Amino acid sequence: MTLTVRPLHPTLAAEITGVDIAAGVDAETAAELEAASNRYPVLVLPGQTIDKEQQVAFAGLFGPLELMGRNLKEDNYTSKIHKHLADISNVDPAGKVYSPEDRRRLSGLGDSLWHTDSSFKRVPAKYSMLYGDRLPPDGHVTEFADLRAAYDALDDTTKAKIADLVAEHSIMRSRSIIGFEFSAEEQAVLPPVPQRVVRFHPGSKRMTLYLASHASHIVGWPVPEGRLLLLDLIGHATQPHFVYRHRWRDGDLVWWDDRCTMHRARPRENGNAREMRRATVSDGVSTLDQPNRMPELAA
Ligand code: OGA
Ligand code: MN
Repeated sequence: MTLTVRPLHPTLAAEITGVDIAAGVDAETAAELEAASNRYPVLVLPGQTIDKEQQVAFAGLFGPLELMGRNLKEDNYTSKIHKHLADISNVDPAGKVYSPEDRRRLSGLGDSLWHTDSSFKRVPAKYSMLYGDRLPPDGHVTEFADLRAAYDALDDTTKAKIADLVAEHSIMRSRSIIGFEFSAEEQAVLPPVPQRVVRFHPGSKRMTLYLASHASHIVGWPVPEGRLLLLDLIGHATQPHFVYRHRWRDGDLVWWDDRCTMHRARPRENGNAREMRRATVSDGVSTLDQPNRMPELAA
């Protein structure tokens, strides 16, 4: 296959054509895709017609896949979705649009806060591959932010101050921002985890911020001080010039690198069905077990 890379944003996003995921992707094409993703961490592959198994097989070319947990007691993955696919839809297993008060819908609204996937797990995500199977007629938009460019734009004093910081991330934190509450039983499944605030991105040999609304505070700092720093950094990283806005079409497969981007869903109506599903490649180890310096500068 010969793939074509067309930038959609100067540093953050590109459209990839010439790849038919359903037909199977060979090792050479997979390597080309990964190289493109190291340059543009958001890749849009339009016009794909893939079933769940084809999506899982494609994502599996790039590393071990996350197993979907049961975050809410209402989740019923067995009847609707694959064990390696997160359900990003607004319909129940029978295809009926969630009622306004459905907890699956309300929890899903947390995706409208800036975040990176699975930073609330000890071992977070490397790549997310979200497939738009059926988008609502009134459209759907996801925004992405470039955390490598945002890191580069920080002044040296800030870079030095944050170089070794660790933040505590929890899904309870992001959901509490919008007033969504987990039961004690649900909370016990996903306890808070530590993640580095600054990471080295090996595929591009660049440094990156690592931020999400799941981040609650800085370990070892007074909570208000750490939370203010995180809010400041998220504000900095989501300025318009660091952001790409994707308007979905049926058949888009959007791939993003969770190590060096954030994303958020834009507000959406709940009247029409939206069927999207996400395969997530795990990063393998905690950010605490990865370098947070350029290799040549490492002690
Ligand atoms: C996700 C996500 C946002 C959206 O799939 O991880 O945050 O716009 N999606 O659906
Ligand atoms: Mn997400």
